[in-house]
Amino acid sequence: MRTLGEMPSHNHAPDDSAAAPTSRKTAGEIVVLGIETSCDETAAALIARDASGRGRILSSLVRSQWEKHRAFGGVVPEIAARAHVECLDELIAGAMTEAGIALSDIDAIAATAGPGLIGGLMVGLITGKMLALAHAKPFLAINHLEAHALTVGLTDALRPPYLMLLVSGGHTQLIYVEAVGRYRRLGSTIDDALGEAFDKTAKLLGLPMPGGPSVEQAARSGDPMRFALPRPMLGRSEPHFSFAGLKTAVRHAALAIAPLTDQDVADLCAGFQAAVADAVVDRTRRAIEVLAQDTATPFAPRRLVVAGGVAANEALRSALTQLAQAQGYAFHAPPIALCGDNAAMIAWAGAERFALGLTDALDAPVRPRWPLDQEAAPALGAGAKGAKA
Ligand code: KG4
Ligand code: ZN
Repeated sequence: MRTLGEMPSHNHAPDDSAAAPTSRKTAGEIVVLGIETSCDETAAALIARDASGRGRILSSLVRSQWEKHRAFGGVVPEIAARAHVECLDELIAGAMTEAGIALSDIDAIAATAGPGLIGGLMVGLITGKMLALAHAKPFLAINHLEAHALTVGLTDALRPPYLMLLVSGGHTQLIYVEAVGRYRRLGSTIDDALGEAFDKTAKLLGLPMPGGPSVEQAARSGDPMRFALPRPMLGRSEPHFSFAGLKTAVRHAALAIAPLTDQDVADLCAGFQAAVADAVVDRTRRAIEVLAQDTATPFAPRRLVVAGGVAANEALRSALTQLAQAQGYAFHAPPIALCGDNAAMIAWAGAERFALGLTDALDAPVRPRWPLDQEAAPALGAGAKGAKA
């Protein structure tokens, strides 16, 4: 179990070269400050983008609030907002010091405007706007989901169009990313988001939060075949997802053999993760078929991108790698450090929009609900889905 002192402020980047900060601003580059406060992570980062559109991270600081929410078993919006207020200034100053960049060197300021928890969003958005106003810098109000969707532009120099599987704590969607600002949703979850299903499964098995990494860790020593768990939505024609039934099946299997040994927990986690991988692969394969038959996308390139916090899951990454190979698709996933919430992705989305001249006015609203594809009909049965829904 993690103890309270073990989740201090940390730089998300040090173990990962693709995410590791590099040197100061060079000629021809624009530098963007990014601010992220949409849920339970406070983050500030500086990225640079050169004239050819290549990006690099100058600094990326992320501070998790999990220890503040632990006693409540989930993210408490008021506590989250206050925690963002307490450390955001310090993180922004730290990101600038680490990058060796002064405010005068910054070309634009980007902050998450939604979707997410309104209190936290307001903290980051107002801070970004104030800095932009005080230093006469262009401002960008960023959609958090768009930032996840465009991260591979920063890490792999990969630009749309591509098919994207977005799997996070509040969202599970298959999206055709046509261009910056143009998104078409092919499928989404009808109940729980995938990260939410990991978190609830961890909770019911007594594993620490956030649940995804705990379940993945426990699954390493588990037998995925011991429990027969369902593969929800397998074979359905629309590429939608459902995870509520799987989570309930884990609960029933656990209750039937309680009290649980460590090996029981490991086997349940391995079984859950295997079921998730099978379901996600089946639904993504279906989206590939839908895209191939769609006359609106005759030139869709064969590229699959996975993004969002759950994209850090190694079992899922390897299952998707195999699927992509079998389908003749190139597969791209951000480095693990940039799968979860961070501000480098916000700064990068800001840089991409800035390069297109898409800046925002200082009265840009906070948008707790902000779907990427505004026209998509809700998936049947869609309900409340996690802190970010
Ligand atoms: O993108 P993210 O950091 O925040 C949202 O925008 O929601 O995603 C957080 C979610 C949590 O539900 C967390 O349990 C899950 O991502 N997660 C994982 C892993 N790491 C984080 N799920 C499965 N395996 C992981 N290794
Ligand atoms: Zn996220």
